[in-house]
Amino acid sequence: MEKLVIKGGRNLKGEVYISGAKNAAVAIIPAALMIDNSCKIENVPNISDVAILKDILIQLGAEAEFADHNTLFINSRNVNTYKASYDMVKKMRASYYLLGALLGRFKRAEVAMPGGCDFGFRPIDQHIKGFEALGARVEVKHGIVRLKADKLVGSHIFLDVVSVGATINLMLAAVKAEGITTIENAAKEPHVVDIANFLNAMGANIKGAGTDIIKIKGVESLKGNVSYSIIPDQIEAGTFMVAAAATQGDVVVRNIIPKHMDSLTAKLIEMNVKVVEGEDWIRVTGNGRISKANIKTLPYPGFPTDLHPPVTVLLCLADGTSTITEGVWDSRFQYIDELKRMGAQVKVEGRMAVIEGGSRLTGAPVKATDLRAGAAMVVAGLVAEGETELYNIEYIDRGYENIEGKLRSLGAEICRIRQGSCQL
Ligand code: EPZ
Repeated sequence: MEKLVIKGGRNLKGEVYISGAKNAAVAIIPAALMIDNSCKIENVPNISDVAILKDILIQLGAEAEFADHNTLFINSRNVNTYKASYDMVKKMRASYYLLGALLGRFKRAEVAMPGGCDFGFRPIDQHIKGFEALGARVEVKHGIVRLKADKLVGSHIFLDVVSVGATINLMLAAVKAEGITTIENAAKEPHVVDIANFLNAMGANIKGAGTDIIKIKGVESLKGNVSYSIIPDQIEAGTFMVAAAATQGDVVVRNIIPKHMDSLTAKLIEMNVKVVEGEDWIRVTGNGRISKANIKTLPYPGFPTDLHPPVTVLLCLADGTSTITEGVWDSRFQYIDELKRMGAQVKVEGRMAVIEGGSRLTGAPVKATDLRAGAAMVVAGLVAEGETELYNIEYIDRGYENIEGKLRSLGAEICRIRQGSCQL
């Protein structure tokens, strides 16, 4: 079992390069199944979620190979099945994108849903409602979602909740449907736009991605031999910005789209952190005292739910009492118990956490309860007095490429222990 060992107290200093967006990659890779040809995807984050998806594509009959650390070649010519078993998808929570992609290509899909969840129930009723509107018959039985359509026909779909997954899945399924599909109340996250751009590069006709009305004019076929570069990861960038602020550091976060960071940048400035933006970088510098803040997570362009756990650590260090309200997920507070083991004073009331600032966090053995909770524990370890041992780090590896290497390059004392020991 691997763990991260972090000796806290160092101010992070230097430059860090942000990888490609995980939540774009986990949709773009399945989208490559929609062509019977090849494509080259660049700026792919080298993370375990991508490795798992690559294996799933190979099991479906595709060729998928890394040409270098971050460039993935996929050729889906020989894919001849629309079935993805539980064994294939159980480790991959975003496997639901196989539904839209396989339905779009074969007009059929059978995909097992992975059991359990990181943070509570994650329904897919909006995905299903949309597939049905496009003409698919849907059966969910024995943990398998079966979709079958004689033909897919464009439709008007109004999502009851703003859902990233449903928006992307319905774009995938509608790309080759007859006529026009309109998705209203669509998610506007940067990765929704990225997937639309990838599909358009393959010949799809999608307009309005990034607004709450997306229009997809069905095309007969998609073309291959496309080369596409994934956008930078907004959440990895945000995690490093928060870590820089929490450690009173001075870090330039590079290879990002600063606009995607607006909600976090505004909060950091409100909290008395110095933030300077360039064309594709942001510099975050600690300014001494951190002011309290009230934060509510919302769909984009609101404050991202995936930055909620890391930013809570920053609020623990602020002057006064802060609140964070979870506006996207029902339950995302499991990490609070771990943070309390390090001395945080937090009370959870329904969807709100009330955080007493001014805590002196102390190192402790703790565990990651999900991906972003793991990132929060890393930030906590960086500011804590003494040594933190962080377990269940396979969650972190799902979404952060070489987190310890990037932090070490900023001066953090952090190492991964596989077997034996490490010297800090
Ligand atoms: C995506 O999940 C991300 N995952 C999540 O990031 C992120 O937290 C979430 O979007 C919100 O930004 C990926 O992109 C792979 P949703 P997704 O559908 O698409 C409700 C991470 O750490 N809902 O936008 O599954 C749902 O319960 C991960 O990187 C329905 O009610 O999220 C939630 O309350 C974790 N019915 C809200 O909508 C549905 O059919 C938003 O969920 C679908 C969703």
